[in-house]
Amino acid sequence: MEKVIDGVKLNIPCHVAIIMDGNGRWAKKRLMPRNFGHKAGAKILEQVCRDADELGIKYLTLYAFSTENWKRSVEEVSGIMNLLRDYLAKCIEDAEKNNMCVRIIGDRKALDSDIVAKIEELEEVSKIYNGLNLTIAINYGGRDEIRRGVKKLISDVKEGKIDDDITEDTIASYLDTKDIPDPDLLIRTSGEERLSNYLIWQLAYAEFYFTDCLWPDFDMDELKKAVRYYNGRDRRFGGVK
Ligand code: IPE
Ligand code: IPE
Ligand code: MG
Repeated sequence: MEKVIDGVKLNIPCHVAIIMDGNGRWAKKRLMPRNFGHKAGAKILEQVCRDADELGIKYLTLYAFSTENWKRSVEEVSGIMNLLRDYLAKCIEDAEKNNMCVRIIGDRKALDSDIVAKIEELEEVSKIYNGLNLTIAINYGGRDEIRRGVKKLISDVKEGKIDDDITEDTIASYLDTKDIPDPDLLIRTSGEERLSNYLIWQLAYAEFYFTDCLWPDFDMDELKKAVRYYNGRDRRFGGVK
């Protein structure tokens, strides 16, 4: 989709995935505990969704908690889980207000049952909305997602539900992201330039944008910078242009 942004016609990526990184360093700079940074990071989520929607982005996928993040201190993990509890509850209102359809990806089996109940309510309530498609990755790891998908696929083949002629589309249909297109643009904040196990199958042909901005400072200007960077890329998908 093309849209005029600040007087310039830009090609808007359909799906933007973000690794929201740098909350800890944002807090450290202020001599505050890490969870202060996570709180600040959660606070900007609604505005980032509104900004993405305003730019014409259809799918936004946010990395909130990885399968590796359990390695952090009990205090930090429980702080993040409490923020997720609050956010998921508020997100039910945001979804209605901002016309958002919300999905959660990742292995929810390891999450507390009240969090799983909130996730199910949020997905049920918001599935009627046709504005921004927001996906939040919680206890998500790309390798774990493929492992879970392969396990299910093998059991479906054994039970005769599908035949063993496995295509790339078959594999994609066994991933948590089966209902959403692959990301066009990946943004990672905080200056780190790695995937940290995020959407490793789905990002095969995405453009990557890295910024030193720490996540709690991310705003519309930063999002526009990423979209402008995306417009400077020549996407060839293995062909020749
Ligand atoms: C990202 O910020 C949030 C989560 C991983 C939950 P970090 O907590 O990783 O912040 P830094 O990288 O330590 O600054
Ligand atoms: C990735 O950030 C996970 C999330 C943003 C949720 P990390 O801060 O956990 O990644 P590493 O440890 O720097 O690779
Ligand atoms: Mg980090």
